[in-house]
Amino acid sequence: MEMTPYQLANNTPLTLSPNFILPEEKRPNLSEIINHGVPRELCQKALAVVTEFFQLPPEERAQYLTKDHSKQVKVFNYYQKYEGIGKVTMWSETFSHPWHPTEDFTHLLPTNPPQYREVFAEYARAIGVLFDRLLSLISRGLGLDKDCLKRRIGEKPGLHTQANYYPACPDPELTMGLPDHNDLGSITVLLQVEGVTGLQVIKDGKWLTVDPVPDAFVINLADQTQVLSNGKFKSVGHRAVTNKLLPRLSLGMFYTPNNDTVIGPIEDLIDEEHPPKYRRYSFKEYMEEFYRQEGKKRRVKEAFELQR
Ligand code: OGA
Ligand code: NI
Repeated sequence: MEMTPYQLANNTPLTLSPNFILPEEKRPNLSEIINHGVPRELCQKALAVVTEFFQLPPEERAQYLTKDHSKQVKVFNYYQKYEGIGKVTMWSETFSHPWHPTEDFTHLLPTNPPQYREVFAEYARAIGVLFDRLLSLISRGLGLDKDCLKRRIGEKPGLHTQANYYPACPDPELTMGLPDHNDLGSITVLLQVEGVTGLQVIKDGKWLTVDPVPDAFVINLADQTQVLSNGKFKSVGHRAVTNKLLPRLSLGMFYTPNNDTVIGPIEDLIDEEHPPKYRRYSFKEYMEEFYRQEGKKRRVKEAFELQR
């Protein structure tokens, strides 16, 4: 049935009747910039299985609870420690597990919800392709050959997924979903559910909200990219705040060096005018420093800065 504009104001229809539809070349092309190549349906399916996971009965998720960092599959809550106060728990629950673009990792994943393994296998393949593109674009952006960053992060990167669920919060002014932090790997590919804000990044000392853009990923540059690029690319400080009305879900895919990988500013970026800002270290050392600062506002990179 054809809608007139007067009817539209009182009664939002589910589809557009022909009188509202522009000729193809006049349409706004809203998705033109969202050219990451990962199908929208796949992103929606990934968010859906993760949502279902968080809707499982608590006893079922409890089998993954652990405080052991070395466990590959785990459910946990972030917290911060404050002097004289102690631990404050963040308003979120996190589920973390490995992913891999080509090898079969799905035997590590839950069997419930039943589609979890299959959906993640497909999502991981697509995200692997996206990581390759991102790493080569960043390499080229630094004037390096396209394989440079991938090579430096190593043959066998550490790959993990982190799904964060933030229940609606009675008082977002009193708590936080995730504390102010920097991701510690190379880059992070983050997918957020549409329609609920929560992610914020810090710029010039101010927190800016990153509204979810339908069909878009948020790409965070993380600590190792800052070090490898000798500070040309900055690792982004970010946090998640909670929402009073709606729960929120995000799904992060992380790409990190493994423990034996030696990280330091790439030699081609170093000259008289650009002396190295960081010393070389094994990623194991970086992780040790990371755990040493557990519960605090972490300043991990700073521990590897060269004094001048
Ligand atoms: C993370 C993260 C932010 C978000 O998982 O490291 O920063 O929007 N998530 O949930
Ligand atoms: Ni993060």
